[in-house]
Amino acid sequence: MKDAQHQSHQSSHAIQHHWESRYEQNGDHSLSWTESAQSLSQQWIRETLPRSSSIADIGAGRSMLLPALLDAGYRNLTHVEWSQCASQALQHQLKDQASHITWFVGDLNQWQPPALIDLWHDRAVFHFQMDHTSIQQYLHSLHRAVRPDGYALLATFHLDGPETCSGLPVQRYDANSLVSTLNDSKDANWKPVKSQIWTHRTPSGSEQIFQYLLAQQTSFDP
Ligand SMILES: C[S@@+](CC[C@H](N)C(=O)[O-])C[C@H]1O[C@@H](n2cnc3c(N)ncnc32)[C@H](O)[C@@H]1O
Repeated sequence: MKDAQHQSHQSSHAIQHHWESRYEQNGDHSLSWTESAQSLSQQWIRETLPRSSSIADIGAGRSMLLPALLDAGYRNLTHVEWSQCASQALQHQLKDQASHITWFVGDLNQWQPPALIDLWHDRAVFHFQMDHTSIQQYLHSLHRAVRPDGYALLATFHLDGPETCSGLPVQRYDANSLVSTLNDSKDANWKPVKSQIWTHRTPSGSEQIFQYLLAQQTSFDP
């Protein structure tokens, strides 16, 4: 058991190192996941959540989502990311505005908000959870962070999307399998609010098919 824990700690360390060096060695134009601030996530958040909402972007990297939400008037924002390099670069870019965001540098499974949040946003992070244990660990972190009636907005590679992301294998989903995976955890009851297949054009011009899902946590029906 101790050996298994030691191995999993080592591999988690190796994956963290993978991301740190991706950000250290590449500008945004060389990272396949870079997208403009006019994202589907931003559009859905603005349509669904009031400006007072607490929103965490999980594995946010150098995404322009939080800066775009700041511009739109959201102020209760958290950036969760284990690459220090990515987190610092975005803080530097935002200058004084960075103080409106709470910054957590570390493993998303170690992050716990001081108060339950309204929305957990994850684009291209959940799909790296490849086995039952890491999926369950992720779902546990999600459930303990989001308030009852709160939302999760997840974007993963679609079943017709690429099998790897940044050179790492990914688990692909459609809307149904994403909802049933969210609900494959004790006391979970997520209802889909909306879903969409979305083609992302990478900075190098290739296409990646994503599955987007906005789900709301609901109380159990009596
Ligand atoms: C493909 S990138 C997507 C970045 C961002 N969500 C976006 O859409 O631009 C995956 C990101 O997840 C971060 N990440 C992966 N596993 C993580 C973990 N366990 N805890 C925190 N961040 C993680 C990586 O460092 C990287 O920034």
